[in-house]
Amino acid sequence: MKSPEAQTISPEKAKALHHLAVDMVIRLNIVLKSARIYEPNNLLFERQVSLLFRLIQQALTESGQASLVARQSTIFFNTIRLKYGFSNYQFFKFILEEFKRKEVGGIRFEPGLAENDLKIFAMVLAKTEEKPGQTYEKLVAELSARGVSRIALEKILPSGLAPSREKYAAKVFFLGLTHLEEVFEAESGQEKIKLGTTRRLMQSIFNHIVDNESFVQGLTNIKNFHEYTLNHSMNVCILAIALGRRLGLDRNELVDLGISAFFHDFGKLDTPKEILEKPGKLDDREREIIERHPYQGAGKLVQFRELRKLPLHAVHVALEHHIKEDRSGYPRPFKKQSVNLFSKIVKIVDFFDAITTKRVYRTKVFTREEALSLMLEQSGKEFHPLLLREFVKMMGVYPVGTLIALNTGELGLVVENNPDPRLLLRPQVKLITDPHRNKVDGAIIDLSKIDPLTNRYSRTIVKTLDPEKYDVRVADYFVAQVQ
Ligand SMILES: [Fe+2]
Ligand SMILES: [Fe+2]
Repeated sequence: MKSPEAQTISPEKAKALHHLAVDMVIRLNIVLKSARIYEPNNLLFERQVSLLFRLIQQALTESGQASLVARQSTIFFNTIRLKYGFSNYQFFKFILEEFKRKEVGGIRFEPGLAENDLKIFAMVLAKTEEKPGQTYEKLVAELSARGVSRIALEKILPSGLAPSREKYAAKVFFLGLTHLEEVFEAESGQEKIKLGTTRRLMQSIFNHIVDNESFVQGLTNIKNFHEYTLNHSMNVCILAIALGRRLGLDRNELVDLGISAFFHDFGKLDTPKEILEKPGKLDDREREIIERHPYQGAGKLVQFRELRKLPLHAVHVALEHHIKEDRSGYPRPFKKQSVNLFSKIVKIVDFFDAITTKRVYRTKVFTREEALSLMLEQSGKEFHPLLLREFVKMMGVYPVGTLIALNTGELGLVVENNPDPRLLLRPQVKLITDPHRNKVDGAIIDLSKIDPLTNRYSRTIVKTLDPEKYDVRVADYFVAQVQ
């Protein structure tokens, strides 16, 4: 099977084939999932096989070949790299994972393929027991024993192993930004907003947080990658779900919390950019305009056409996320109005993300560690004390993304906190310079490991540093995971 290479077909044809190939990926996904649960003669399963068969036939007619090849986190159809958005991301992810599990690097469907062969193939692929190092050979033997000859499998390349969980998480982050942009644009154009996709995005973020919380938290170091409000909304959403999970909210509540956090600044769409981005102090009139965004956000959310899919909490959060714990802030709450728990959570993570992000009007950008200590000073006044305590605990003494200096002279970035509370001062660190401060793409070191020769810790953090001053772009490390 040929490796994906540059193609020489017209852009129109490539576009049409791309569309067809994405349909094939989605249909293959449904066929494989159906094969897991149904018997071979089940009507629903057979119907899905038929639909996939037709797509493959069409691909064979139009381009003479039809192969799906996995390379890193991408699927190629023949030589065309398939692009996917958040709405079909899950299908691609499933196929890439399924390929990895079965040790398959690619599938080639050949002219003359019979529908029944496709059916047998789907059953064999879905039901072959996985034995690391032997699955591919078992599959090939089984297909040949059953007379399937027009479907060729390529063995997974050692370098073509499906992407790491970090890559998936980073991908979701960027796809999430794209989705958010679509939602915000759709809103201004009065198009229908895809709240179903937003919900799936939240479920996906939740899954990644369960899988690898530190890394997902680390992604919130990516600032101003996109327009501020979008990037900020995404970060607030991740941190809110992570904090909510610590507080014991269940999966459905966390998805609702994520959606509410996602839309917390929705009202800012109506605030003029000159005011939002004005360097220096705002005058009274400008401040008054900014302070309208909670009302405007809540007002816009209740006008959603798909209102039923929107948690009621989202309206509360949009309205209440600037109300302080001592009930000052804006808008002033009514006498008996109790502030929603979700609003209090968003209040904390919103504030944290805002003051750790560089903005034209902000004279000081706080490091993550400085931000936490400033917030602790405001415990009970600005923030709910117990929620804040949990947030600080979650972020750790050295939040993921903190730049630190080690006793060896090396600089490093905190990439994961130590789960043992007694070892909070000993996180995992990625080395980014050598002892002479030359930049390196260093290893990830577990600072809690004791050197067996000296019976001591080999490295210890001596201080935290401001990344700006040391010309370190923390986000680069996390962005690198998606490339
Ligand atoms: Fe806000
Ligand atoms: Fe905000």
